[in-house]
Order: sequence, then structure tokens, then C-alpha cells
Amino acid sequence: MKTVKIGIVGFGTVGAGAAATLLANHDVIAKRTGVNVELVRIADLDITTDRGVTVPADMLTTNADDVIREADIVVELVGGTTFAKTLILKALNAGKSVVTANKALLAKYGEELFAAAAANGVDLYYEASVGGGIPVIKALQEGLVANRIQRIYGILNGTCNYILTRMEREGADFADVLADAQRLGYAEAEPSLDIDGFDTAHKASILASLAFGRWYGMDPVSVEGIRNISLTDLRYADELGYRIKLLGIIKAINGSVEIRVHPTLVPKNALLANISDVFNGVMVEGDMVGQTLFYGRGAGRNATASAVVADITDVAVNIANGCPRRVTFRENAQITAVTAPGDVQSRYYIRLQVKDTPGVMAAVTNVLAGENISISSLIQPETTGNDVVPLVILTHSAGEAQLRAAIKNIEALPAVCEQARIFRIEDL
Ligand code: HSE
Repeated sequence: MKTVKIGIVGFGTVGAGAAATLLANHDVIAKRTGVNVELVRIADLDITTDRGVTVPADMLTTNADDVIREADIVVELVGGTTFAKTLILKALNAGKSVVTANKALLAKYGEELFAAAAANGVDLYYEASVGGGIPVIKALQEGLVANRIQRIYGILNGTCNYILTRMEREGADFADVLADAQRLGYAEAEPSLDIDGFDTAHKASILASLAFGRWYGMDPVSVEGIRNISLTDLRYADELGYRIKLLGIIKAINGSVEIRVHPTLVPKNALLANISDVFNGVMVEGDMVGQTLFYGRGAGRNATASAVVADITDVAVNIANGCPRRVTFRENAQITAVTAPGDVQSRYYIRLQVKDTPGVMAAVTNVLAGENISISSLIQPETTGNDVVPLVILTHSAGEAQLRAAIKNIEALPAVCEQARIFRIEDL
């Protein structure tokens, strides 16, 4: 049986999970693949903390170069975009294949990293970068290879999904649920990467690259997080038959790609609307297969380790069989154009606070009509004794530029009391 040597850089939660999986399931992996996938080295600056996994003391090192020298596959699990980038390039240039879970790094530097992998004839695998344990990257690269991908919708951040689920179920405010999620360890002490949508954006950029054959980077990705979702909007959405989810949305329309991340009203009966708590879900639509849905844990030690070790195993099989680069990102520029934000078409939810006086509804709808925006539904709940009342409008599909122009004019109406709350709607 051929042996392929594995070295891990980064002995944190995921690194320890990957090491534990490689050790615990070594025999079953060998039986399934015919390859002895052997963990030989683990590097971390801190090699004294107990990681909950027993490894021989001489396997540990503080020098990542030891890993690059001794391993056939270097597993980068340090995160960040500086040391990790240097490490991966060094490993690739040393002729070593790399497995990484680093979404921020790939989203920003995918083109450069994959060029280095190609130049050196080695593999760079990254299943754990999107959807944690869900094998959605393998699905896009292999299972769905016969398809032209048309749309991808992803709930890609467990922290946000957990917060939105609890707000909806318990009628709790965003700030209270976030504080509780931090106390329980579901949300980071510095939560911005998750709740401001950037983590989802990194993942959306990677999925877009896989779907449409070029690295888009982060520039074309429009990002809005979940901080501005209020209970009031969740309740109106519910009343109108929708839930609000933070979605990564990737679409190809008329030969142009849109990549966006924002809170989105999704019909309650859609499968994605029913993905709750910390779970992730990705809907991929291909021209041949139609809609497919991938569901599971998007984070956590064991789920992420499952994806990392699947990558390690795939690369080990490639090496053992002398066929590196059997499956890899192949830039093929299927779709290079990117849709400008103002040109994106979407349905919208608009909530206004307006003075309860004659002619207000007419003035608001008049502005929308002036921008050629058609209303699909409108509610103004009956209230007594209030001078200011909510007005909730759902639109048919409209251009973002038209919508923004209309909102500017609506907010300038004397009877409109607050900034409009706006969310997009996707009917899936
Ligand atoms: N922090 C992410 C989440 C997992 O909450 O889903 C890592 O991308």
C-alpha cells in the first residue's frame, strides 16, 4: 500500500479535529482508498496547550517549514490572509499539494494561488471553505460538471442563521440574541465578519468562481449584513408569507454574473426558508439537473474536519495513483462580465413610517409608478390614535437604480417620517 504523508499547520479547533479524524479513521480510509494516509507532522506556535487529541510529542513542531519539508500534502488551517498565503505559496512552490479551509484567502487571492498550483503541477483543495462539512464544492466540480450553473442561493453563515432563527422564534431583538449567542460561544466576541456579511461574501465569491469559471475576487460582491433586521420587519415578512434569511446569491443573467449578499425575504414554503439554527443550506440550479439542495453543518470542529479529511483523502489518492490535478479549479472564463449593482433586478419589500393623512398612499405609489416600479402587495394595518402608521409595500421586479431613485423621492415626501427599511425578495 502506498503511503502519502500529511502535515497540518494550525493546531486549533479544526486542526485538532482533522488530526483526530486522520488518526481515528486511518484504517477505514486506507480500506476505502487503498492508500496509507499518514499524519506525520503538526505545526503551531503553541504546542503545549491540550487540544483534546493525543499525538506523539515528536509530531509537534513550532516551525511550519518542517511540515513543508516532510509532508506530501500540507494542510493550512491557520486562517488569515498573510502568513497563510505565504505558507501556501511556499508549499506549492516546493511541489507540495495543499488543502485549506481558508475562504477569505481564496476569495481574495484565488487566481494567484491556483496559478501557483498549476505551475507546480500540484493540487489545491478547499472543500471546507464553503459550507463546512457539506460537500458542495465537490458537487459543483464533479457531480454537477455536466451542467451550466444558472443560480446558487446559499445560507452560508451559521451564526447569522442562528440569530435570525431565534429572533423569529422568540420575538427577541437582534442585540439580545447576539449577546446570548456570544455567551453560548455561537458568535465571536468580534462578530463583524459574520454578522456584517463578509464571511458569506467570501463563500459566495468562491461559489461564483466554481459556477462560472473565473476568480471574481471580492470587488464585485455587494455585501449587506443582518444588523438592520428588526423584529418589526420579521413580523411583517411573516404576515406576508416570508422569512428573512441572509443569502449569498449568485446568478448568471444574459451573460453577466451577479454576486450579492444581503438579508432576503424567502417564501416560507421554500426549502431554504426552513433551514434553521446554525445549519447551512445551498441551492444550486443547473440547466440539466434543475434544483439541488445541500444541507448540513457549516462550521464546528468535526463537520469542518470531515471536509478537510475528505480533501486530504482525494489528494492522497491522486498522488498515490500518479494523477495530480485530476480535479482542480480550471479557469475557463465561461462568464466574465459582472452586473453593475444598479442594474440588478429584484423584487423589494419596503417599510415606511408615514403620517396618517389623506393623500399619503397616493403620493408614495405615485413616486413608485414614476420609476416604473409595480406594486405587488401593500399593507397598512389599521391603528387607532396613532398619527404615524406603517406602510409595507412589496414590489414586482425592479431595477436597483430605479428603486434607489424612488426611495430618495419617497423619503423626501413631507408625510414620510423615517428612513425606509428595504429588503430584497427572492421567490426561488
Ligand atoms: N463563522 C462561520 C459561521 C463559520 O458562523 O458559519 C466559518 O465560516
